[in-house]
Amino acid sequence: MRKALAVVSLVAAFGAASQAGAVTLTLACGAVGQELELCKAGADRWAKRTGNTVRIFESPNLTNDRLGLYQQQLAARSSDIDVYQLDIIWPGLLSQHFVDLKGKVPAAELNRHFPRIVEANTVNGKLVAMPWFTDAGLLYYRTDLLRKYGYSAAPKTWAELATMAKKIQDGERPSNSTFAGFVFQGKNYEGLTCDALEWISSFNGGTIVDNTGRITINNPRAAQALDTAASWIRSISPAGVTTYGEEEARGIFQSGNAAFMRNWPYAYALGQSEDSKVKGKIGVAPLPAGPGGKPAATLGGWNLGVSSYSKNQAAAIELVRYLTGPEEQKIRAIEGAYNPTISALYRDQAILKANPFFGSLLSVFTNAVPRPSAATKGKYNQVSQAFSTAVSNVLNGRSKGQAAVAQLSTELARIKGRGF
Ligand code: GLC
Repeated sequence: MRKALAVVSLVAAFGAASQAGAVTLTLACGAVGQELELCKAGADRWAKRTGNTVRIFESPNLTNDRLGLYQQQLAARSSDIDVYQLDIIWPGLLSQHFVDLKGKVPAAELNRHFPRIVEANTVNGKLVAMPWFTDAGLLYYRTDLLRKYGYSAAPKTWAELATMAKKIQDGERPSNSTFAGFVFQGKNYEGLTCDALEWISSFNGGTIVDNTGRITINNPRAAQALDTAASWIRSISPAGVTTYGEEEARGIFQSGNAAFMRNWPYAYALGQSEDSKVKGKIGVAPLPAGPGGKPAATLGGWNLGVSSYSKNQAAAIELVRYLTGPEEQKIRAIEGAYNPTISALYRDQAILKANPFFGSLLSVFTNAVPRPSAATKGKYNQVSQAFSTAVSNVLNGRSKGQAAVAQLSTELARIKGRGF
């Protein structure tokens, strides 16, 4: 975080020093996996073509930390950052600080993107951001180890996953004492909200709050899903999983120390890179289903919005149009496994060759389950924090599923007050 702030003061000091006619923009992008590198490369391509300059503001890894930092900048009406990379759950929270892109981005350009992602970026008719890449939770597995232990396919249910993970873990431990059956995002933050929504939804336990704003979390299937996840800790998942975000889980899987991992698509490109210990041994499947339920993947993804406080809005809009356009989305898909938001790119042979699961799991991406950010609007962050804290209590043995969902329901009613 200190590093990021240092960049901002540099920008403040040198931001105006650009050649006549050309502008200097600052783009805040993420730094998970290859994010920073690919963001910088894309911005450089645009800068070269237009003669403008783009400085990159490096944001923290955890989405919660990014939000805190951005909220500070925006509340101060700071013009230091022109373009922000926005999480799909933020438009409701931040819409007032962004330029309405409706009419500024030609309709034909907007209509290339998946309509539900455009909709998620639209608040009361205002287009807060342009879709950049979409995300959905996936199950990664080791094809070599499944074969070695006699399995011919990825698990279809959480119960099957637990059995397979245990057998593989027991078999691998003698030669690798830290080998884990299953790793995921167990730390108390937004990532745990995503993972736990998948568990609950796949047990048919709803989506915490439904799309009319009704609180639905207090139900036996949600409780059972959380108890099931708690049963993994210290059996198929290391105790440390309750401190893992995306990158910690990826580090373990990519160094060959886990049989299964829940993660987003970006982990694929890195897992298949030259220095990965599991290159060529990675399978990708839909996440398992709970009893009587069907698999669920949480909808994630990032979008680009232009700050209302930017002093160079016209150029910033051009940068956003370029970065979210087909040419850049294609490069990012091939190099980083970032899922395009432009539907036609799912028929692009080079993209499908780099990421075969973009085609075979297309329905996972198009049916991903949104978090209740639209229904809870400005209160989403509080709702999500209350939820991930309740889940974390169950994972850490401080509470049982039933008690946790009942207490959470009361807490959510308090947050809701007279309305979301
Ligand atoms: C990914 C998703 C984002 C989500 C975050 C949680 O970056 O794209 O939507 O909030 O993970 O850690």
